[in-house]
Amino acid sequence: ALVSMVELLDQAQKGHYAIGAFNCNNMEIVQAIVAAAEAENAPVIIQASQGAIKYAGIEYITTLTKLAAEKANVPIALHLDHGTSFAQVMQCARNGFSSVMIDGSKHLLEDNIALTNKVIEAVRPLGISVEAELGKIGGTEDDITVSEREALFTEPAEAEYFVQATQVDALAIAIGTAHGQYKGIPKLDFERLTKIRERVSTPLVLHGSSGVPEEALREAISRGICKINIDTNIREAFVLAARHVLEGDSKEIDPRKMLGPAREAATAIIREKIRIFGSTGKA
Ligand code: G3H
Ligand code: 13P
Ligand code: ZN
Ligand code: NA
Repeated sequence: ALVSMVELLDQAQKGHYAIGAFNCNNMEIVQAIVAAAEAENAPVIIQASQGAIKYAGIEYITTLTKLAAEKANVPIALHLDHGTSFAQVMQCARNGFSSVMIDGSKHLLEDNIALTNKVIEAVRPLGISVEAELGKIGGTEDDITVSEREALFTEPAEAEYFVQATQVDALAIAIGTAHGQYKGIPKLDFERLTKIRERVSTPLVLHGSSGVPEEALREAISRGICKINIDTNIREAFVLAARHVLEGDSKEIDPRKMLGPAREAATAIIREKIRIFGSTGKA
């Protein structure tokens, strides 16, 4: 069933587990997310980035994901990942998303607050929840030093100010993770997370979570993270399985013979993440 994200995150926060927010790149990944959630009897968030929407088209993305959520026998929220403009967010709101992210992290603090509030004012009356970002999460390919990256981490006092000024439903924070594949092992600033949690009761979101060791994910959850975003690990599993099929038979021309096993591999990795997040059986 299609549900609001707020309800899922509230329960997760109370129960000390996290909801997996999985990026859908295509139909097979949408199906894999639902299959994994049903197999684990877990609530999940299906999220689409602007890139995913551009690739499939907004009608295809919303039709596919809405169908998936409505048919599923577990609660599912549909969320826009890293929306960057008011217009984009409104397009998703009109098309049936139950939640949106407005990522104003590249703006100055007051501009981030103003943009976030503009979105909240427009979509909250429609029952749509809003995630914002404070601090800069960035990508692993960003050519910056460790200390330059640390300078972009979320400041606990600023987080407190931000949530008071916006009343946002969920807050993405920068504590050492990055989008994409890590070169080494990421080091998370857990003390910073705890300091943020002490000042902010809003559900906190961990981005860039692919490649973060299981123990670090569990530690982040125990310190108050309740939404965990995963994209790259699904892509890796999906493409590896597809590649395996093609390398095994260079004459294979049936796309389903390639994408079916890829979908199964995606389902398996999503189930593994759901178990790590502690959301198995929470549907
Ligand atoms: O946050 C980034 C997500 O992994 C989406 O990536 O823009 O390539 O779809 P994308
Ligand atoms: P990864 O691709 O590193 O898992 O990050 C996903 C993410 O944060 C989507 O918003
Ligand atoms: Zn992200
Ligand atoms: Na990552």
